[in-house]
Amino acid sequence: MSIQDRQYILGIDTSCDDTGVGIVALEQGRAKVLSNVIWTQEIHKQFGGVMPELASREHLERIDQMVELALERAEIGTQHLSAVAATHGPGLMGALLVGLCYAKGLAQGLAIPFYATHHLEGHIEASMSDHPDLEFPHLALVVSGGHTHLFDVPQQGEFKLIGATKDDAAGEAFDKVARLLGLGFPGGPAISEAAKQGDASKVPFKVPLEGHKGFDFSFSGLKTAALYAHQAGANPFDLAASFEATVVKSLVKTTLKAAKTLGRKVVVVSGGVAANRALREAFQNSPLEVYFPPHDLNTDNGAMIALAGARALKLGKSPSSSATPAQAYLPLGS
Ligand code: KG4
Ligand code: ZN
Repeated sequence: MSIQDRQYILGIDTSCDDTGVGIVALEQGRAKVLSNVIWTQEIHKQFGGVMPELASREHLERIDQMVELALERAEIGTQHLSAVAATHGPGLMGALLVGLCYAKGLAQGLAIPFYATHHLEGHIEASMSDHPDLEFPHLALVVSGGHTHLFDVPQQGEFKLIGATKDDAAGEAFDKVARLLGLGFPGGPAISEAAKQGDASKVPFKVPLEGHKGFDFSFSGLKTAALYAHQAGANPFDLAASFEATVVKSLVKTTLKAAKTLGRKVVVVSGGVAANRALREAFQNSPLEVYFPPHDLNTDNGAMIALAGARALKLGKSPSSSATPAQAYLPLGS
């Protein structure tokens, strides 16, 4: 198949602290990731959290280089692109604006369609990248540093929010507990690593909202319980193991309850926390048919946005207006 028979979509995500650019080829209705480059901003590590002003400045400094690298790795030039997609929300306002304005400019300059993409739709798309024909209806659980959202997805493009965290996001709780234990940032992988050396049964934590009605989550009380256990001298490895196990139980049990209530058998899990090994195992041992993103598409990246753009192109969706604003707060499926 020649380069002319394919459509190439470039995707950009600058919603938080990663400058992500990816390129997807669309060929006979199948989307394939050709490149996925991410500039991870190390500058925030010293603060133990993301500094919004610094994030946008770094995106601005790196975006050009990342686009060039993504094109180079995909072995194409801008003249081959059929569409450009970029995250327009939710995320950090200044950070979002960098990728969004860059994408609009690129699309306008090349006279090709531009697709404004919801960040969470990108995450969900990443989990389906190896299974593009995944059946509807299904559930979609998005667990990241900013979100813990459970959606019912009755059909293509329709997202019904059925549960969400009442306070901290799952990834945020991982990050905060890691900080408490002096394990560094981002906290998820650090906790997971420490947990390997711990015994989860030594520090008993209550599963948040267990026995409650509905499908919501809560992690702030668990975080406080971790703080008290730490102050009482709990072994940090045991604490990490128990914390991780409790978060996993909460996510899996609530998703199972929702699946049972709604009669769903398939769940798509995405977002940074979907990289968690214990979470993957727990879901794989559950009665649900579960799909995760490939490892390089777990955390924020541009390829997931390009995949969402490819789907929009494939479905013949109208391109977004060049006036589409960046939106820090942008619910999916509302
Ligand atoms: O999706 P993502 O890259 O950014 C947001 O949109 O928030 O998710 C980042 C979050 C961080 O909170 C990080 O600690 C968490 O994902 N994370 C993990 C793991 N890898 C990343 N949490 C638990 N276990 C992991 N292995
Ligand atoms: Zn994300």
